[in-house]
Amino acid sequence: MSYAKTLTGQRPVVIAHRGASGYRPEHTLAAYELAIAQGADFIEPDLVMTADGVLIARHDNVLDFSTNVRDLPQFTEKKTTKVIDGANHTGWFSEDFTHAEIRQLRARERQTGSVPTPFRPANCQFDDRWPVPTLTDVIQLAQAGGVGIYPETKHPTHILKETGIDINEVLLDTLQLHGITNFDDLPVYIQSFEVQNLQRLRQEMRKRNMDLRLVQLLGDRGQPFDIAQAGGSTTYADMATRDGLAHIARYANGVGPEKYHFILPKDEAGRLNPGEATSFVRNAHAARLLVHPYTFRGENRSLPKNFQGKQPHNELQLGNLVGEIERFLQTGIDGFFTDHPDLGRQAQ
Ligand code: G3P
Ligand code: CA
Repeated sequence: MSYAKTLTGQRPVVIAHRGASGYRPEHTLAAYELAIAQGADFIEPDLVMTADGVLIARHDNVLDFSTNVRDLPQFTEKKTTKVIDGANHTGWFSEDFTHAEIRQLRARERQTGSVPTPFRPANCQFDDRWPVPTLTDVIQLAQAGGVGIYPETKHPTHILKETGIDINEVLLDTLQLHGITNFDDLPVYIQSFEVQNLQRLRQEMRKRNMDLRLVQLLGDRGQPFDIAQAGGSTTYADMATRDGLAHIARYANGVGPEKYHFILPKDEAGRLNPGEATSFVRNAHAARLLVHPYTFRGENRSLPKNFQGKQPHNELQLGNLVGEIERFLQTGIDGFFTDHPDLGRQAQ
């Protein structure tokens, strides 16, 4: 398939979002292995911290969203209520578990909603088969599989406050331990929705003589949590302006924007139309920033109306994700996050 000119002139990269999470419970080695087999260029571990400073691959520090923790009596007393980045949750949290305790858990398909429901019911057939991987497991898999990694540091401000451990330090230590100091050792992009931890990462990498790539994520609303905590007023919308992008380019190599809000908006009927891209990709490229939007999902419920399958009321049916990605590739994006790396590869 053709794509518009990217920043580097290289073909856009496929980033397996939480592994091949369309087909396996997210953030399991099985999900990452399948992504590699499907041709992904990068596998994405979201990272949270254990009490004893081990980075593990989970989307949230809330373990009950994606493990069997609630069924294990030895952990009943760890259930508690916390405010995470401004939101209340009662459950089990990674920072209250040692790594030895995390190893007793098994991964499950993500539970979502006020009445917890599996995000992808078909993936429940794999529930309780696999443990929760560490960052080390993911690095070793990527090194053996010949792909890069695209870690996201989750809740850095919260983790520092709860544990006194800086997620950035542990991340860089772990990468160095595996001989990874620059992009040629292993392609590594580190992403975050927060700002200060990316800026700190840049400084820390300079001190350590490391040269990995950093990506500023941009949410479709609100502002980075660390900026809000510090009483700042800068929003993601501010950061996506030409001036905002020029500022990001001082510490990051790329941006990870929400795809519809920033790049190709849907119309009022929920359709994607040709020729309606914003100036975001052009502006980001002018600032020498790569653009890797998130998240491309194949099911009807996640697709624009004109890319849904023949039974649009069947929200779990796969529609025309390849077509949707092809439409975005015409905007000049440099890569994309997808739950369905095989379909991403077809579009690429
Ligand atoms: O990291 C890009 C995208 O994954 C951000 O969203 O919530 O899936 O981590 P989330
Ligand atoms: Ca992520």
